[in-house]
Amino acid sequence: MDKIVSLSKRRGYVFQSSEIYGGLNGCWDYGPLGVELLRNIKEQWWQSMTSREDVEGIDAAILMHPRVWEASGHVANFTDPMVDCRECKARFRADQLDDAPCGSPAYKGRKAAKCQAEGKFTEARQFNLMFRTFVGPVEDSSGAVYLRPETAQGIFVNFLNVQSASRQKPPFGIAQIGKAFRNEINTKNFLFRTREFEQMEMQFFVKPGTDEKWFAYWKEQRLAWFHGLGMTPEKLQFHRHEPDKLAHYAKDAYDIEYAFPFGWGEIEGIHNRTDYDLSRHEEFSGKSMKYFDEQSKEKYTPFIVETSAGASRSFMAFLVDAYREEEAPTADGRTETRVVLGLHPKLAPVKAAVFPLVNRDGMQEIAQNITAGIRRRHRVFYDDSGAVGRRYRRQDEAGTPFCVTVDSQTLQDRTVTVRERDSMQQERIGMDGLERFFGEKIGG
Ligand code: GAP
Repeated sequence: MDKIVSLSKRRGYVFQSSEIYGGLNGCWDYGPLGVELLRNIKEQWWQSMTSREDVEGIDAAILMHPRVWEASGHVANFTDPMVDCRECKARFRADQLDDAPCGSPAYKGRKAAKCQAEGKFTEARQFNLMFRTFVGPVEDSSGAVYLRPETAQGIFVNFLNVQSASRQKPPFGIAQIGKAFRNEINTKNFLFRTREFEQMEMQFFVKPGTDEKWFAYWKEQRLAWFHGLGMTPEKLQFHRHEPDKLAHYAKDAYDIEYAFPFGWGEIEGIHNRTDYDLSRHEEFSGKSMKYFDEQSKEKYTPFIVETSAGASRSFMAFLVDAYREEEAPTADGRTETRVVLGLHPKLAPVKAAVFPLVNRDGMQEIAQNITAGIRRRHRVFYDDSGAVGRRYRRQDEAGTPFCVTVDSQTLQDRTVTVRERDSMQQERIGMDGLERFFGEKIGG
């Protein structure tokens, strides 16, 4: 993880939030390459959902009516047990003490569980993870609202709006990408558990009785999405929630887990939420949330199958999965260690780098023209500084899948070399064929 965090900063993937002020715990900023990778992940997810004829998209407000969170159960149940150390004043999640280090610098290497065994901790008390704020100028409880802790509720409350506006009939889904906020007691492992993060959620509304079939379908679809974007299959697994560990709304639930360097961790949850959400919103709002089927004249509350992925956690999983160090030959016949981010071309922040081999004989102008041509469709980087081997290494580390080099042969026959990041193989292709080449390898 240390290597990934340091590469993220060095190459402009992720920076600590407000770093010059010492940072803000649990918050991170995405740099120039990071924002592109994150956008590409979200774009791939959005396309995979909304290019289907049975899924519509929405973008609901982050602030919602406070009754939403009473109906959803978050006001009463969205809590973690918290304990304080009377000696060093550090705060811990009582159910996650196993790996937590003691908060005092005086006891380096000591585990918090030992302090607990010695009776240094307070009794556990429940802590609600929602961030509370106020609408309007007066900070009293009548104006209290919450930053949404999940995007899902914005979909549930809009179920009938979307259904009637888009003339969809169950089974159909509503997809949304957006920020969510949780005041986690202990943030940890870089982007894994943060206080501000992004979710990519899709709620699929189905007729009761067909929910188990759709649940099985979406579970497979979502795993296939990660495979399709190049994530190592052996590093992905399903984890089924035991019946006694199921969330209060769920009939069945699986996590898709990734093998992070610190162990298996959830990157997405697939839940059979039954009719819990729509029934609760019907009860709390007093408005019917039932669907009326004109053809069969049936009226029912749809069951919901939810796919809930963390965009930020998926970002971290894609980054970890892509990182490798390997021996590579140098121009003078030695070998050296190269760092490669083997990101899928569809996810890579920059698709190509263009180099003039040397800065003379008009090679720079040709390379700049090629760069401008590729830029019409893809993100591209022009680099004319340093030995070409070093330029390749820089791009390997940034995850750029292709490097195009203009050399003396280009001046004679208008061909360039295209080097592929993972195999390091080079092929010569005509300059005029570059657009087609990138179209085939990367897509639109
Ligand atoms: N609507 C259901 C729901 O929100 P969840 O399992 O609490 O379910 C779904 O969250 C996904 O959101 C997780 O699989 C994870 O990827 C992401 N996520 C949740 N809490 C997070 C946090 N504190 N930091 C980063 N990502 C988080």
